[in-house]
Amino acid sequence: MAKAKIQFPRGFLWGTATASHQVEGNNKNNNWHAWEEAGKTADKSGLACDWWGGRWREDLDRAAETGQNAHRFSVAWSRIQPEKNRWDEGALNRYRDILRGLRERNMTAMVTLHHFSNPLWLEDMGAWENDETPQLFADFVRKTVSALKEYTNLWVTINEPNVYTYSAYIDGVFPPGKKDLNIAFEVMVNLVRGHALAYKVIHEIQHEARVGIAHNYYSIKPKNAYSPLDKWVTKAQSNAYNNFFPKAATDGVAKFLWKKVKVPEAENTQDFMGVNYYTRDQVSFSLSMAGKLFGKRYFPEDADLSETGMIANEPEGFFEAMRWASGFGKDIIVTENGVEDSTDEMRPRYLAEHIMQLWRATNFGWRVKGYFHWSLVDNFEWERGWTQRFGLWELDIETQKRKKRKSAELYEEICKTNSLSSKMIEEYCPEITEKLFPD
Ligand code: FCB
Repeated sequence: MAKAKIQFPRGFLWGTATASHQVEGNNKNNNWHAWEEAGKTADKSGLACDWWGGRWREDLDRAAETGQNAHRFSVAWSRIQPEKNRWDEGALNRYRDILRGLRERNMTAMVTLHHFSNPLWLEDMGAWENDETPQLFADFVRKTVSALKEYTNLWVTINEPNVYTYSAYIDGVFPPGKKDLNIAFEVMVNLVRGHALAYKVIHEIQHEARVGIAHNYYSIKPKNAYSPLDKWVTKAQSNAYNNFFPKAATDGVAKFLWKKVKVPEAENTQDFMGVNYYTRDQVSFSLSMAGKLFGKRYFPEDADLSETGMIANEPEGFFEAMRWASGFGKDIIVTENGVEDSTDEMRPRYLAEHIMQLWRATNFGWRVKGYFHWSLVDNFEWERGWTQRFGLWELDIETQKRKKRKSAELYEEICKTNSLSSKMIEEYCPEITEKLFPD
């Protein structure tokens, strides 16, 4: 093994990402709470990580003490606007406390304004199916950004609009559990409109704002590289899934399969590209998969799979994600990346291999400015509940006790030295030393 150290650019942002419903606890006024109550999730969020009860303090201490200089979190629309005609100043103050807490810890804050959950009153109106929602979102954004702008200028309007639409309107595992491509398209267009209005509102309130979307990039390869049908379905799925939102926010055209709508107000409405990357897989053409654009998905046969089989460790897909993102000509921020692994057997190598690709990307001159690992502490994973553990810290949901995983130590060394070294690999994941630092 070669002894070496790879170094990141000065000022690189190192952090973790969280989301309100997943960490706050007792979020009872939103569509996810109702979904949990209806028995649609593996289990219930309950107290989650008890951030609403104040445990964000100890978790942000953990982040700061281990060298993280940034944190991405989301605000809950349902708390800030509990009813259509009512704002809760107390909730905004709590978020101001968190932002002040980040500032006191010398951490850069990134705030997500919509991360999957909707207020109940909005869900009752059909949420993003309703054409009024983009404007209602913009009103909420105006209120929230005005209250929080003193503490940050880094905003994500919408988290993974593609995952939201796919899971809620095609796959049906997120509320409202529909499976309808036509409705999905209407929702997608409204999300683009909502983002565009929010972008304008934020810049009106704060000139120095940096506004983006956290795009989930799913790397897809044809199962058989020589099959025209496999190649066709790869392209169709990738265009529909990966390209729809960033293209709409670039040229103001929402193009999905055979449908196309102009949304001129969305043109050039991203200051940076947020990229959430987890995995990649292969796809083959299959007539039985009409609802999924005729694509059957597989992980490679020899894949290094996560605990529940949701994620294959495919770091080259991460490099591809950053190359793709760089094509939009903006700064890139990796807004999520991580793996579920309660025993922490796989996470150190997953982390190290992805950090290596991150470094490669910066060396290609792509403007990658930061990396947010998903996640700080084990948290409530949507319909999968507590069955998946993404935290650098382990959480005991009964006692609320946290325990530092080995990966947290590795990430600490990375953050504190702004680098990754062969010595770290030898210590935390010796099984990949030859792969990462060959002689
Ligand atoms: C992403 C979500 C995030 C988390 C991770 C594992 O799709 O944005 O909230 O659940 O997956």
